[in-house]
Amino acid sequence: MSTGADETDPKPVVSLAGVTKAFGAVRALRGARLDLYPGEAHALVGENGAGKSTLIKILAGLYRPDGGRIEIDGVPTAFADTAAAMNAGIAVIYQEPALFGDLTIAENLFIGRQPRVRFGLIDRPAMNRRAAALFDRLGVPMDPDRPAKGLSIADQQIVEIAKAISLDARVLVMDEPTAALSGVEVERLFSVVRALRDDGAAVLFISHRFEEVEALCQRVTVMRDGAHVSTDPMDEVTVDQLVRRMVGRELGAMFPKQDVEPGEVVLEVEGLSRAGICRDITFEVRAGEIVALAGLVGAGRSEVVQAVFGIEPRGAGRVRVAGRELPSGNPRAAMRAGVALVPEDRRQQGLLLDLSIMRNATLTRRGRLSRFGFLVGGAERRAAEKWTARLNTRYGRLTDAAGTLSGGNQQKIVLAKWLATGPRVLIVDEPTRGIDVATKAEVHRLLSSLAAEGVAVIMVSSELLEVLGMADRVLVMREGRIAGELDRSDATEEAVMLLATGRESVA
Ligand SMILES: Nc1ncnc2c1ncn2[C@@H]1O[C@H](COP(=O)(O)OP(=O)(O)OP(=O)(O)O)[C@@H](O)[C@H]1O
Ligand SMILES: [Mg+2]
Repeated sequence: MSTGADETDPKPVVSLAGVTKAFGAVRALRGARLDLYPGEAHALVGENGAGKSTLIKILAGLYRPDGGRIEIDGVPTAFADTAAAMNAGIAVIYQEPALFGDLTIAENLFIGRQPRVRFGLIDRPAMNRRAAALFDRLGVPMDPDRPAKGLSIADQQIVEIAKAISLDARVLVMDEPTAALSGVEVERLFSVVRALRDDGAAVLFISHRFEEVEALCQRVTVMRDGAHVSTDPMDEVTVDQLVRRMVGRELGAMFPKQDVEPGEVVLEVEGLSRAGICRDITFEVRAGEIVALAGLVGAGRSEVVQAVFGIEPRGAGRVRVAGRELPSGNPRAAMRAGVALVPEDRRQQGLLLDLSIMRNATLTRRGRLSRFGFLVGGAERRAAEKWTARLNTRYGRLTDAAGTLSGGNQQKIVLAKWLATGPRVLIVDEPTRGIDVATKAEVHRLLSSLAAEGVAVIMVSSELLEVLGMADRVLVMREGRIAGELDRSDATEEAVMLLATGRESVA
C-alpha cells in the first residue's frame, strides 16, 4: 500500500539528516534523521533522553547542531537563532507556553508587529478583529481583549497556534503538548491541529502516549540513543513493534501488580475539607494497599493529597498516621511521620534545577545521611546511584545540574528523591506523566513492590489503565467530593467514568 506522500511524490518541507549534538560528554544526538511532509502529521517517539527535544530545539533555532544537514524546501539552511527558524515557517508549541500575563490575548498574538494607525499608535480594534478571525478559523471561541493571565495551559497553546497561523507557519512542532491537558482539551487541540494539517501544514508531534500518536499521525519515527531507528507509515506498524524499537528489548508486563494481604490501617483521613476546593473527604489506607484517587482533571484530587501532606492547610478534618494526628499545614511533621508526596508539577515543586542530580536525588534524606552534621559523601552517592539506576535514569554524571536532564529523567529524579526517604505512606501524583513506556512499567513494578514491603500507597492518576491496572481500591472524585469507591474487582473503565462524570450511562 502506498501512502499519500508517495502518490503525489511531494518534497519534504523540512529534511534533517545525520544531525549530531553533544553537551560535554553527553552525546544527545548521533545521527538523527527526519523528513516532514506538507499535509502530514509525523510522530517522533523514543525513550526519555533519546534526543527528541534536542532535535526539536535544533529545528527551532535554539541550539546549533555540531554536524549534519538541515534543508528547508530542499535548500541547505543553518538557523542563526529562533527568529530565523520562525521566518523559515517553523513554529514550535512547547508544553508550557510562555505568554505575557499582563498583555491581552491579541497583544500576545501580535507582539512586536501590532497593526498601527497614524503616529505609531496601536490600532486596537483592527488587532482584536484579526485575532477574533484567527480564533474563528480555529473554531475556538476566545476573547482577544482579555489578559492572558489565568488562561489554562490548553488555551495558551491555542493562542500559540493562532500565532503560528498568523505568521504563516508551514511547520507546526509540538513537544509533549498534551501532558498537562484534560481529555476534552486534548480533543480540541487535535481537531485544531487536524484542520491545519489538512490545510497543508506539516506537523511534528512528540508524545509518550501511543493512543494519541495513533489518533493524530500518519507517519512515525523512532529514535533511540540519539539516533534514527525507523520511519514508517502509521498504519504499517503496531505499538508493540514501536515499543520494541524504542527500548531495544522485550518489555515485561505493564501492570505487574502483586497480590498483597493488606495490613493495619496506616493513614486515616476524616472529614477533610477546604473551602471551595474539597468537602468531607474520608478514607483510610492500609499497609500494602495501593489506593487510587481517580476523577477528571479539576476534580480536586491533587488538592486533597496536598492537604493531607500539609502543603496546603486544611479547613476542617483530621489526618492520622499510624494513629498519631498530623498538624494541619505542616509538611515537615508529615515527613517525620513517614509520609512522602511526589508532586504533580515536578518542575516547579520537585527539583532545584541548578543543583546536581545527586543533591536533588538525596535532598530529602539529608537528616539520615549526615552524622554529627557532616555529610557522609559516599552514602549520598550510593543512595543516589541506587534509585536513579532502579528508575533507568539517563544522565552524564551525578554531579551534573538537574536542569540538563531530559524532561522524563527530571521526573525520575524527583521520584528517586522521595523513595530514598523510605516512606510508610507514599503519595504519588501522576507518577508516570511524561515517562516513557519502559520506565512506566518500571515505576509500576516499584510501586507494587513497595506495597508488598508494607508501604501504604496513594496514587493520583488520570490514566485510567494505570488506575485499573495498579489499584486495590479506587476512590473516584467529582467536584471536590468522593463520588464513590470501587473495589479492584468492580473497577471497570465504565464504572469509574460514570462516577467521575456523574452521568447515568457512558455515551
Ligand atoms: N542543555 C543540556 N545540557 C546537557 N545535557 C543535555 C542538555 N539538553 C539535553 N541534554 C541531554 O541530552 C539527552 C537527550 O535529551 P532530550 O531532552 O533531547 O531527550 P528527550 O528524548 O526529549 O527525552 P524526554 O522524553 O524525557 O523528554 C539527555 O541525556 C539529556 O540529559
Ligand atoms: Mg523531551
